[in-house]
Amino acid sequence: MSPPNNSIIVIGCGVTGLSVATLLQSEYPSATITIIAAEIPSGQSPSADYASMWAGAHYRPTPGSTSQLKQEFDMGVRTAERMKRIARDHPESGVAFMTGVEYLEDPPAEFSSIKTGDVYAGPEDNFRVLDQTELPNGVKWGCEYRCYCVNVSVYLKWLLGRFISKGGRLIQHRLSSAQQAFDYAEESGLGKVSTVVNCSGRNFDQDRKTKIIRGQTVLVKQQYHKTVTRQNGDGSWAFLIPRPQGGGTIVGGTKEIGDPEERPRPETLNLFPDFVDSVDKFDVLKDNVGRRPWRDGGYRFQTESVGRDKRIVHGYGAGGRGYEMSWAAAERIVALVMESVPANSKL
Ligand SMILES: Cc1cc2nc3c(=O)[nH]c(=O)nc-3n(C[C@H](O)[C@H](O)[C@H](O)COP(=O)(O)OP(=O)(O)OC[C@H]3O[C@@H](n4cnc5c(N)ncnc54)[C@H](O)[C@@H]3O)c2cc1C
Ligand SMILES: *[C@@H]1O[C@H](CO)[C@@H](O)[C@H](O)[C@H]1NC(C)=O
Ligand SMILES: *[C@@H]1O[C@H](CO)[C@@H](O)[C@H](O)[C@H]1NC(C)=O
Repeated sequence: MSPPNNSIIVIGCGVTGLSVATLLQSEYPSATITIIAAEIPSGQSPSADYASMWAGAHYRPTPGSTSQLKQEFDMGVRTAERMKRIARDHPESGVAFMTGVEYLEDPPAEFSSIKTGDVYAGPEDNFRVLDQTELPNGVKWGCEYRCYCVNVSVYLKWLLGRFISKGGRLIQHRLSSAQQAFDYAEESGLGKVSTVVNCSGRNFDQDRKTKIIRGQTVLVKQQYHKTVTRQNGDGSWAFLIPRPQGGGTIVGGTKEIGDPEERPRPETLNLFPDFVDSVDKFDVLKDNVGRRPWRDGGYRFQTESVGRDKRIVHGYGAGGRGYEMSWAAAERIVALVMESVPANSKL
């Protein structure tokens, strides 16, 4: 078999790389799309740096007025539309729609203007501000809406399985740099490569804007039916995130900026009285520690020329919302690829 001419390489097999690879396949049906990744969804013990294995993951919109927050809000709504179709057409994907609840002990002033019926998580989200009588002790503001949760290991394997069944290739290999992908691809018989997409999370660590935000959660056996987020008055967070398909419930979680500790620390579990009536009734299956691939200012969406007819398209820095923004981010990244490689060009 002769090597495919000019294939596209995606570095990374997290939610960002897999979403990008999926969209590239539909834009370039006759090209070979290859994922090169150090860690892949079937690995037995993922490192803390493989963020996609450690996410909850639930969808919780982040309303706000800065341009970054507005952009991220739109990306969340756009991604939710596609997730809705996936949940409906492919229940085996590990994505399921359910009620999301938020409790705030100390709501910012602008929350008083939010009303039942507003669009909060997207169209038809059944958004409702909770009545004072429905709020737990200590909570001043609460709401509920339709959103989705993701069983992350099921979902990543599902995306990867579809990618491969449509002719995508996967090579498990740790690169020393994104540039090395060009030579490595040629050595691996993939032919000449001119486009490498960098969806490496924050793992190459060359970009000084990226930093770790450590997150520790526990997986409990009990299955809850709603996702709950509580923002406490002291700035800490507590959440419940069910894993669809009987995967239990994630209870969390911490946010420690720049903290590299990989081992779980003793943590006090937050109590959700609707779920279990005392903390020791939680049936803890696993302590999780992951690192969110944070980047100041948000994602880097950018094409960098690295030599004659060679370019790296960057798509990393998802931070704490890489699932919630995944499809919209992938569209932005694929649009950059298409600026350099028109879909009808002979790949
Ligand atoms: C505790 C916790 C809770 C979270 N909760 C949520 C949530 O509720 N909702 C949500 O949307 N998000 C959540 N997140 C964030 C989410 O996990 C990330 O935003 C997302 O997984 C980032 O995906 P990614 O594909 O960009 O990076 P990653 O998942 O880190 O993937 C990077 C990929 O690049 C590969 N790679 C890296 N370096 C190299 C190299 N040198 N050579 C080859 N390959 C390489 C890796 O092996 C991997 O395949 C949470 C994160 C944590 C830690
Ligand atoms: C690729 O992504 C990493 C983040 O993982 C970043 O540090 C790096 O600067 C990017 N570019 C190259 C050429 O590696
Ligand atoms: C869902 O995720 C959990 C891990 O949280 C896993 O143990 C479980 O097997 C998953 N569900 C299915 C149906 O695979």
